[in-house]
Amino acid sequence: NLPAHVRVHEVGARDGLQNEKTVVPTEVKAEFIHRLADAGLTTVEATSFVHPKWVPQLADAEELFPLLRDVNAELPVLVPNARGLDRALALGARRIAVFGSATETFASRNLNRTVDESLAMFEPVVARAREDKVHVRGYLSMCFGDPWEGAVPIGQVVRVAKALLDLGCDELSLGDTIGVATPGHIVALLTALNEAGVPTSAIGVHFHDTYGQALANTLVALQQGVTTVDASAGGLGGCPYAKSATGNLATEDLVWMLDGLGIETGVDLGRLTATSAWMAERLGRPSPSRTVRALSHK
Ligand code: HMG
Ligand code: MG
Repeated sequence: NLPAHVRVHEVGARDGLQNEKTVVPTEVKAEFIHRLADAGLTTVEATSFVHPKWVPQLADAEELFPLLRDVNAELPVLVPNARGLDRALALGARRIAVFGSATETFASRNLNRTVDESLAMFEPVVARAREDKVHVRGYLSMCFGDPWEGAVPIGQVVRVAKALLDLGCDELSLGDTIGVATPGHIVALLTALNEAGVPTSAIGVHFHDTYGQALANTLVALQQGVTTVDASAGGLGGCPYAKSATGNLATEDLVWMLDGLGIETGVDLGRLTATSAWMAERLGRPSPSRTVRALSHK
C-alpha cells in the first residue's frame, strides 16, 4: 500500500546551501528557487531568518525573499525565535519552520539552548504565527542517531515530537540529520509515534544520504502512510552544526523512484535535473546525485 501522490518539500536552497563555504550570490539563489518552482516543486524552502553569524550563507534573507514574489510555490523559511519571526513576517512570509532537536548536544550546538529551553523559545513563535494564520512546520533533528550521543532512544524522540505538536505545529519533519538510520528504525519510530497518538498525516520525513539509505528509508516511510518527503535538488547539503552530515536525499533520486512506482509528484524530472546541473556549475563541482549524473550523460 503506497500513496497515489507525494508532496516533495524541496530544501536545496536552504539545507542544501547553508553548508556551502563560498557565499552564493543572492541573484543565483533567486534564480535557483524560480527554476525549482518551474520544475513543478510546490514547496520550496527559501532561506533562514537565523543569526547571520551562525549561518553566514543565509545572511542575505532580507535581500533574497523580496526577489521571490512571483515564484509559483509555497516558500517556507526557518525561524528559531521571536527575532527571526519578526524578520520573516515583515517580509510577508506565510510559512515558517521552527527546528528542535531530540538530543541535548545538538540543541546546544545548533540553538545554544537545552531541548526544553528551545521548546520554550519556540512557544511564543508558534503561537504568534498561528494567530497570523501562518503555517508552522516543526523540524525535529537527530531522530535516529547523533554524532556525539550515538543512537537516540525512541522514547526521547517521541517526547519532543509530541511537545512540538502540542505547541501548535501543523506538521512535523523527522530529521535523520546525519543519515545513519536504516529502514527498521524508521518503522519502529513511526510505529511509536502512531501509538503515542501522532497522526501520520502530520509527519514528513527528512533524510540525509550519508550511508546511502535515504531512498530505502523513504520507501518504508511511504508504506507506513507518510506522504510528505523532504529532498534537496542535486543532493546538495549538510548541516553546519553536525559535522558528519552529508547532503539530503537528492530530489532527482526521489522523483526517479516515485515516477517508477507511478506515484505522482508534479515534478518534471528533466527540468529539475537541468536546474541541478546548472547549480552544480555555479558551485564548481558535480552533483552527488546518481540520477542527475545518469541523466546528464545521456
Ligand atoms: P544565541 O547566541 O543564543 O542568541 O543564538 P541570543 O538569543 O542570545 O541573541 C544574541 C544576539 O543575536 C542578539 O543581538 C539578538 O538580537 C541576535 P544583540 O541584542 O546581542 O545585539 N539574534 C538574531 N539576529 C537575527 N536573527 C535572529 C536572531 N536571534 C537572535 N533570528 C540562535 C541563538 C537561535 C539565534 C542561534 O543559535 C541561531 O541562529 N541558530 C541557527 C542555527 C541554524 O540555522 N542551523 C541550521 C538549521 S537546522 C538544520 O539544518 C537541521 C534540519 O535540516 C533538519 C535535520 O536535518 O535534522 C532543519
Ligand atoms: Mg537537514
